[in-house]
Amino acid sequence: MTVLTRRRLLKTAAIAGAGGVGLSAMGRFGGWAAARPEPVVLQTAKIKAKLMDVGQTRDVLTYGDAGMPPVLRMRKGEPFAARLVNAIDDPTTIHWHGIRVPNKMDGVPFLVQPYVYTGDHFDYAFTPPDAGTFWYHPHCNTLTQMGHGLTGVIVVENPGDPTFDAEIVINLRDWRLGDDGQFIDQFRPRDAARTGTYGTVRTANWLDQPQYDAPAGGLVRLRVAITDVTRIYAFRIDGAEATVMALDGNPVPQRFSPDALLLGPGQRMELAVRMPDDEGAIVSLRDVRGTKPKVLATLRAIGSSLKRDIRDVAPLEVNPVAEVDLAAAQHISLALSATAENVPSDGICGSLGYSFWAINKVPWPGDTPDPTAPLAELKLGRSYVIDMENLTPQSHPMHLHGMSFKVLSSSTREVQPLISDTYLIQPNEKVSLGFVADNLGDWLLHCHIIEHQKSGMTSYVRVV
Ligand code: C2O
Ligand code: CU
Repeated sequence: MTVLTRRRLLKTAAIAGAGGVGLSAMGRFGGWAAARPEPVVLQTAKIKAKLMDVGQTRDVLTYGDAGMPPVLRMRKGEPFAARLVNAIDDPTTIHWHGIRVPNKMDGVPFLVQPYVYTGDHFDYAFTPPDAGTFWYHPHCNTLTQMGHGLTGVIVVENPGDPTFDAEIVINLRDWRLGDDGQFIDQFRPRDAARTGTYGTVRTANWLDQPQYDAPAGGLVRLRVAITDVTRIYAFRIDGAEATVMALDGNPVPQRFSPDALLLGPGQRMELAVRMPDDEGAIVSLRDVRGTKPKVLATLRAIGSSLKRDIRDVAPLEVNPVAEVDLAAAQHISLALSATAENVPSDGICGSLGYSFWAINKVPWPGDTPDPTAPLAELKLGRSYVIDMENLTPQSHPMHLHGMSFKVLSSSTREVQPLISDTYLIQPNEKVSLGFVADNLGDWLLHCHIIEHQKSGMTSYVRVV
């Protein structure tokens, strides 16, 4: 198989280099092998997985051979490479959500790269500039592919980070399964026109309420990513002192307690949790939103207390995101609305066949071979402020690819100047998001409730 051939080639090249084989061989492979790390192979697969007591669920999708897609570890400022090998019978791509990659690596079919068809592969290579918690997923036929399992977490480490006694990574998502444990329709049109269609089975790391051990009295770095296609969470920690250190891959200017913190699909939080002193004590991560609150996962204190103090957690290093120049910034107005048009759009990359939503009155077709013109053309290096207004009764986690923005102000609440890639805009809220257009290319701006994204709430900006 191609992957093996390529990997073998890299190994051979390394051995050849060490053995001092002739110059021509070195010229061909030496520099190339040194400049690029060995790629992580991410092969899509259709598997069976146990998501409900009734038995195995068929047609689950993952990267690898079994279980949840792996947590990928990268290092800030160090090259990373991955080969996507497509072994499912549906074209796919990978988008590195929140990581500021070069445009060609962004994984949006038609806009920046071709489909990766069954049996084909695509090589991704980039150097993550920012440390934090990110995630990866396809950007094609996403409701089905993500809905069936293709959502994984990425940790970008920073060697300068404070040390913890334990680190726990949690991938939160739901599944649309019937009583027999098998997939049911991924969405209902009437829900797509409202909040999106919720899953029926809720998991953390593909498990129902998993429990993880952590040292008593120790400090835990808890990384949580919402990779679900629909659900908005309100987080609470019970049984321990906890503080939010980072949101969406960036340190928060002021730490705060996660008391019913609202986060939507695509968003991530990093908590420092100070485990209780007593062996066996339980800490729970809960979702308290809506009528069916749920314990998502628990941590159990083990051993004798390490007696740490949560105030000793040093600040995380700020990521190198360019500072927006507010005096010179140009403003871009965006109005999010519902549309009554309901024209079936024929996007061939997994359109839902409906349009319920609009950005500036246009129900965007989303991923199509011939996308409409960009929402705005931005000049490389200039500052911009997106003034976004939500005219709908629903919340929308609006995600910008390729660049991170700073939350400047909101019409409805006090906001910290957070750096982020996804903003959960509430009904009737107006928000201003500032950023420097410092990444060339076409960058999507869309709602991360995938049914909204696929029925009108997707557009893009072009940086030239
Ligand atoms: Cu999480 Cu357009 O992506
Ligand atoms: Cu939305």
